[in-house]
Amino acid sequence: MTGRLLVVGSTNVDLFAHVERHPAPGETLLGTGGERSPGGKGANQALAAALQGAHVSFVGAVGEDPDADVALASLRAAGVDLTQVGALPQVRTGLAVITVSADGENTIVVIPGANAEVGPEQVRDAVAAMAAEDLLLLQGELRRETTEAAVRAAAERGIRTIFNVAPWSSVDVDVLTLADPVVVNEHEAALAAGELGLGPEVAAGPPGALATALLGAGMRSVVITLGGAGAVVARRAGATSSGAAGAAEAADDLPRPTSHPSPQVSVVDTTGAGDAFTGALAARLLQGDDLPEAVSHAVRVGAYAVQHHGAQPSYPDQGAVLP
Ligand code: RIB
Repeated sequence: MTGRLLVVGSTNVDLFAHVERHPAPGETLLGTGGERSPGGKGANQALAAALQGAHVSFVGAVGEDPDADVALASLRAAGVDLTQVGALPQVRTGLAVITVSADGENTIVVIPGANAEVGPEQVRDAVAAMAAEDLLLLQGELRRETTEAAVRAAAERGIRTIFNVAPWSSVDVDVLTLADPVVVNEHEAALAAGELGLGPEVAAGPPGALATALLGAGMRSVVITLGGAGAVVARRAGATSSGAAGAAEAADDLPRPTSHPSPQVSVVDTTGAGDAFTGALAARLLQGDDLPEAVSHAVRVGAYAVQHHGAQPSYPDQGAVLP
């Protein structure tokens, strides 16, 4: 592996409350436990990739407050390059308030804080310093214009971008067609379909057909994650990050999607499992795997993560035994 992974994204402190069940509006519940740990979709994916052997640089922002140390602790320990993380006065480090029920499902409220200050200039400068063999990884937790600027700057330089549009935020269509791959869950895939002009019957269809339709509408490659069922992958023959955005094509002319089932495991906490998946996927692409191979590995990393509490504390390193 020669290239580096540049992750442009959010970093938070995750404040967890464990409960038997989620409270109803207006209800107060006693929790069964809780903790604070580093989180944020960008930082989570950066850590997951580093633990899978990637050389990672992170671009983001924290406040000048005690939470900044908590937010960056695991990235620092894993050797992630943090020289492009701004420490900003007068804003607080991002905070996520997370409730996890006994069946492992969560609710998350994110207060962006310093993450909202990461702007197009900062990310353009970071992308300008990338090498051709590097990969760019983005999520949906920064401002829209920041994310769009990063994708376009990378495309201008022929640098491959992995774009995990989570949480979903509406972006310009060219951004969805420049990424290779777009990584989305089923809900986000349906929203992407709408954005690309596909009808509701396509968005409601089975994941494989939806993935093929997204290619037909111009995406280069797409990974749809299916939680405990794994993931499906669809990609154009010879999809690369350089060149013009994909042109719309009839579904009959497109390669068939591939399915990547997940090992079945006992779920403790699903928080950040999608980030473990995406970070591992990026690490494997950097190591030279093709997309389906990388996804097969990433579903196992995601399955490992759901067996443990928290986001970053649940991520395996290369020595871990994966399910
Ligand atoms: O994907 C999980 C992450 O979402 C949490 O770590 C939280 O910080 C939010 O960004």
